[in-house]
Amino acid sequence: MFEVLSNEALTPVLHRMVIRAPRVAAVRKPGQFVIIRAAEGEERIPLTIADADAEAGTITLFIQAVGASTRFIVSVPVGGSLRDVAGPLGMPTHIEKWGRVACVGGGVGTAVLYPLAKALAQAGNDVTTIIGGRSASLIILKDELASFSKQLLVTTEDGSMGRKGFVTMELSDMMADPATCPQAVFAIGPVPMMRAVAELTRPQAIPTIVSLNPIMIDGTGMCGGCRVLVDGETRFACVNGPEFDAHKVDFANLIDRLGTYREHEAASAECRLKQEVKP
Ligand SMILES: Cc1cc2nc3c(=O)[nH]c(=O)nc-3n(C[C@H](O)[C@H](O)[C@H](O)COP(=O)(O)OP(=O)(O)OC[C@H]3O[C@@H](n4cnc5c(N)ncnc54)[C@H](O)[C@@H]3O)c2cc1C
Ligand code: FES
Repeated sequence: MFEVLSNEALTPVLHRMVIRAPRVAAVRKPGQFVIIRAAEGEERIPLTIADADAEAGTITLFIQAVGASTRFIVSVPVGGSLRDVAGPLGMPTHIEKWGRVACVGGGVGTAVLYPLAKALAQAGNDVTTIIGGRSASLIILKDELASFSKQLLVTTEDGSMGRKGFVTMELSDMMADPATCPQAVFAIGPVPMMRAVAELTRPQAIPTIVSLNPIMIDGTGMCGGCRVLVDGETRFACVNGPEFDAHKVDFANLIDRLGTYREHEAASAECRLKQEVKP
């Protein structure tokens, strides 16, 4: 069992949780994740390790409660515990000193972007972070990201915070000026956003990395659930990724696979909601 040491609601749907997991904390590297099962019989949920303290034996997670299982995890109170925390899983991010780097995050992806952007800044890169969402209430981790970014830009689709529009508009402006054009781009968020970033940087051949979010089950490369097509070859996001060269990812195939369980997800959320309102 893994004790929950703190559980703080940063927004109504985003929680920062600190969990005692000494063996994970001792070896974890930026870009890696854990698979959490809150209780016996619950779904396995992949979550990026946002931070770790090897001495204290703790890991920090940012969890956006989007469906039934993530809502269950964030409902575990301080002093309570999680059944399984398996990891660290996945390949660590390849961190190098690129120079000027753009880190682009959308929705839940912003939580995944956080440790990556921090590691890039710590490696001496000039990090411009661009985060976006449908409206101001969905913009997360703005202050945390601003604390180590050289510049932080926000876009919202309804214009309620920052520039009205999409993250790609800010990236496109950066790329248009040789003085600000990034030497590398990291993009994490909804698949259409990552695909748009890949298409934007492709003509100028700017190295672009995306973190893919296929459905994961065992996290060990055995079940095949997270397979993605990269450069025409089948890869497993849990062991070969989750980060890949954006210009080589088959996004159409990824979108297709992500849609496979949409009806089951909706049915599961509805069924759990009914359980929650039972007297
Ligand atoms: C390697 C990896 C690392 C991740 N790290 C984090 C993290 O640090 N913090 C965090 O909050 N989330 C993270 N996620 C996403 C998280 O795992 C999903 O949000 C979660 O599995 C949803 O489960 P659910 O049962 O609560 O929702 P579901 O009922 O399964 O889904 C509800 C809705 O959420 C959206 N959704 C589902 N899965 C994903 C996904 N993988 N990515 C984006 N949107 C999704 C879909 O629109 C879906 O309809 C990560 C995913 C992967 C693959
Ligand atoms: S989650 Fe099973 S192969 Fe990746």
